[in-house]
Amino acid sequence: MQRKILVTSALPYANGSIHLGHLVEYIQTDIWVRFQKMRGNECHYICADDAHGTPIMLRAESQGITPAELIANVKQEHETDFADFNIAFDNFHSTHSDENKALASQIYLANKKAGHITTRTISQAYDPEKEMFLPDRFIRGECPKCGAADQYGDNCEACGATYEPTDLKNPVSAISGATPITKDSEHHFFTLGDFEESLKTWTRGGHLQSEVSHKLDEWFEGGLRDWDISRDAPYFGFEIPDAPNKFFYVWLDAPIGYLASFKNYCDRTGVDFDEYMNVDSTTEMVHFIGKDIIYFHALFWPAMLQGAGFRLPNSIFAHGFLTVDGKKMSKSRGTFIKARTYLDHLNPEYLRYYYAAKLSSGIDDIDLNLEDFQSRINSDLVGKVVNIASRCAGFIKKRFDGKLSSSLSEPALFDDFVAQADAIAEKMENREFGHAMREIMALADKANQYIDEMKPWALAKEEGKDKQVHDICTMGINLFRVLVAYLKPVLPETVSQAEAFLNIEPMQWSDIGSPLLSHEINKFKPLMTRIESDKITAILDDSKESMQAEKAVAPKKAASSDIEDIADEISFDDFAKIDLRIAKIANAEHVEGAKKLLKLTLDIGNGEKQVFAGIKSAYEPEDLIGKLTVMVANLAPRKMRFGLSEGMVLAAGPGGKDLFILNPDDGATPGMRVK
Ligand code: MSP
Ligand code: ZN
Repeated sequence: MQRKILVTSALPYANGSIHLGHLVEYIQTDIWVRFQKMRGNECHYICADDAHGTPIMLRAESQGITPAELIANVKQEHETDFADFNIAFDNFHSTHSDENKALASQIYLANKKAGHITTRTISQAYDPEKEMFLPDRFIRGECPKCGAADQYGDNCEACGATYEPTDLKNPVSAISGATPITKDSEHHFFTLGDFEESLKTWTRGGHLQSEVSHKLDEWFEGGLRDWDISRDAPYFGFEIPDAPNKFFYVWLDAPIGYLASFKNYCDRTGVDFDEYMNVDSTTEMVHFIGKDIIYFHALFWPAMLQGAGFRLPNSIFAHGFLTVDGKKMSKSRGTFIKARTYLDHLNPEYLRYYYAAKLSSGIDDIDLNLEDFQSRINSDLVGKVVNIASRCAGFIKKRFDGKLSSSLSEPALFDDFVAQADAIAEKMENREFGHAMREIMALADKANQYIDEMKPWALAKEEGKDKQVHDICTMGINLFRVLVAYLKPVLPETVSQAEAFLNIEPMQWSDIGSPLLSHEINKFKPLMTRIESDKITAILDDSKESMQAEKAVAPKKAASSDIEDIADEISFDDFAKIDLRIAKIANAEHVEGAKKLLKLTLDIGNGEKQVFAGIKSAYEPEDLIGKLTVMVANLAPRKMRFGLSEGMVLAAGPGGKDLFILNPDDGATPGMRVK
């Protein structure tokens, strides 16, 4: 029976670029959706940008544009990145949309009417200069427990203590630097506890992975607290109906954004929104998310839907986090890799395959080991799969006019391949992609063994063996066809090229069992090439480069969730090791191929040093020549793609064009120590 499935991925925040961590989710979901479509199910893949909240408001401000302009720019960037990774959303919308405004009001008002909204006055930190309430992340101060300086408002990174922002000693606003005051304000709360019983039943009802249900049991034990769903102006979001100057907290309207994007899609395509949203709908609704946002999806979201009389999700599929070479993605190691940086150097399908090979139905973190990545692609995709076709295609083309024979040389082997279809489908359905890939590669090994044993290249030299050569190569091409059919959800672009080579219509799962016989195929073109190591080095280098530039243009640190946290505290002795010198910029030039770097030659009195600095957005090289700056003179030289960098220059400012290099005219001379 044909299933009707609405599938979503979490909505990426509209204040930063898509990176390889995000892509775990979008690739996982896209593979699952493509698989469902190939199985003949009606499946709609829906997403949007998550466009509201304080960080977005502040980031727009720091760039000197309106939030609406910021989210429009980012949406375009996100959509291009996703499309280039062959992630095929049926609709990509925004939470800042008419549909979302209407649905958020509707769901809120229905919950209010049913008695699930209450108001009470709370006191919070307030920035008197900026005239706004400060989210915890925007207050910094000394830890009340250990006294460590410059800690966030909710927890101390030095001693691990958690506390209320009002407990911080000498707190300052990370936005204006002002000392926050405490101010009262009325907030709206969603009374989650009203749903305790039904949520307990629902979370144990097979909609969640078992490890997730267990986690939720702990949360139930802790008690379900009212959820603060309002924020005071100024806030970039939707004003709450009948509550002037109060806005929905971003996480209230974010999941509703799934429905809003779907509504927008339904209006555009004629799909029946109500059929999917009805409380007793027979359609499926499935959310793919990262493990960090389970609380929102497995508690608040079903409760809000239930309170408003909507259907609940069938499944929430959580995945783990990406690590690179076993560690958290790091800007300094160059492993905080943006989608675009990867795309500048490598075929997106390599990453899709690698993630597929690593993914399971669980919530364990997955590791992108760059060496393993390179060797897996080279051995599995290039060495095994593509190789089968390239070993057989030439003979068919040259000796048999491109036409396959009318029979297979070994039908039993072909049947073997086809017999795996159900087992592989089951793995794909259950998100055991890694298992599925291993089975497919085991088949690829078998196909190569078959060709090794049959040696068509040897037979081709013998008299009267034409029919055999023809049948063997036809067999090889047919095994290849089954393999690429299995791989199609993972490698859509490559397989579409394979379909062109095979001269066939786009394959469905149900086509797998019928071999191609007496059929003309096209000339074979290599579908993939090996990954060379220099590509990986280039990605890491560019990531370092883009971070250097980003650091230089970043707005105030705490205003952005993706700016790396302040590094570990250093001792005075460590600090004393840093040799800061006045340097004269003797020469500055563009670097061919670098988007953000300038090459500086610095005179530090006793010699010259070469430094690559990420300040291209702020300066024309000729404006820099002759200026003075401060450089870290004893930084270990680092080999970059463009050459050796022998230090670091210091610059400061709000960013973009306003990035200042010191311009002292008070007699500083090159080589002077700065501290
Ligand atoms: N805007 C919220 C989601 C709202 S959904 C109604 C959000 N956005 S996000 O941009 O931070 O993350 C989007 C998705 O990417 C989330 O599911 C998140 O878990 C996932 N990932 C972000 N970084 C990740 C890794 N490093 N690794 C794996 N997934 C990660 O959360
Ligand atoms: Zn502390």
